[in-house]
Amino acid sequence: MTALFSPLDLRETTIPNRVMVSPMCQYSCENRDGLATDWHRTHLGSRAVGGAGLVMTEATAVEPRGRISPEDLGIWSDEHAAALEPVTEFARGQGSVPAIQLAHAGRKASTSRPWDGHDPLQPEEGGWETVGPSGEPWPYEDGEAPPTEKLDQDGIEGVIRSFRAAAERARDAGFEIAEVHAAHGYLLHEFCSPVTNHREDDYGGDFEGRTRLVREVTAAVREVWPDGKPVFVRISATDWLPDRESWTVDDSVRLADRLAAAGADLIDVSGGGIHPDSRPDYAGPNYQLRYAERIRAETESDVAVGAVGGITTAEQAEAIVANDRADLAIVGREHLRDPYFAMHAAEALDATDEIEGPPQYRRAFGF
Ligand code: FNR
Repeated sequence: MTALFSPLDLRETTIPNRVMVSPMCQYSCENRDGLATDWHRTHLGSRAVGGAGLVMTEATAVEPRGRISPEDLGIWSDEHAAALEPVTEFARGQGSVPAIQLAHAGRKASTSRPWDGHDPLQPEEGGWETVGPSGEPWPYEDGEAPPTEKLDQDGIEGVIRSFRAAAERARDAGFEIAEVHAAHGYLLHEFCSPVTNHREDDYGGDFEGRTRLVREVTAAVREVWPDGKPVFVRISATDWLPDRESWTVDDSVRLADRLAAAGADLIDVSGGGIHPDSRPDYAGPNYQLRYAERIRAETESDVAVGAVGGITTAEQAEAIVANDRADLAIVGREHLRDPYFAMHAAEALDATDEIEGPPQYRRAFGF
């Protein structure tokens, strides 16, 4: 038996193998309304057909101003949840566990999509005013950021309520796992990092204050998420800004235990995104695995860990799990190149008898 195709049990949920489709924005809502379209249903559905044990949606905004671009997915109404329901039904029918990433882009919201330039959008251009822990906008090199409002206590409570309501809708739409997006310089990460959080109230200052919002959001999601089903949190393990006071891997180890106490079952370990200067020192194969491995080894809780970044081959993914470096191999861009990554990995590892692929494709893959 391979490690990659062994199931992972979290609470009462069994993920049939260790391959997860990383959340990836598709910028494909047609009317800038946050509603899932045939693109999302086909994109996610085909990765479920492809054998991934866990298929996660892109960053799905808990409120309209939390979208990165106007074409991002949202889940701020029942209509949004209804448009996503076919994704959960179809993925489950393929034996894949459907998961949703719940997100708020904070001060990095309101940009055009990558193929339209990824430029800041002003309110009069179809963008909107963004929010953050402090009033400083994202420092764009070319072009001016839309205005950024510092969230006050009411605003913070509103964000927590939006995450909780989004989780309730996602639960009712049939998602089995909710992931809180607290990475990549978006709102929850902006609160955690001293680079962007200059508050002096209960939600700023020391580690305790800066991490309060992500802990409260995680607890709020956990509160409405079924007991038998897992909650994940994606974090940036480091700001990659060693020349200034910033978020570090030590902070992440400490936070992971606190998130576990708030109800998180797995920490999805990514990196960077807090500032334009934040760049990985190495971006090759497994470039963030060392952070996942440290969190897995150094946390006191038994919180599980997912590794993401530069995982492109079956052998790599198998080694990560077999050597106990992480519990899940999270595959992003390789899944854009190859929707059947998991089935191809099973072939490469001579493990097609360990995967239950669709009978329609049996004559091609031999499972
Ligand atoms: C991403 N990434 C990303 N991350 C996230 O947490 N939420 C998201 O919605 C997105 N959107 C997104 C879109 C696209 C087109 C890409 C390529 C990436 C980051 C992604 O999940 C992953 O962490 C990185 O791509 C690194 O993993 P790979 O691609 O090296 O396997």
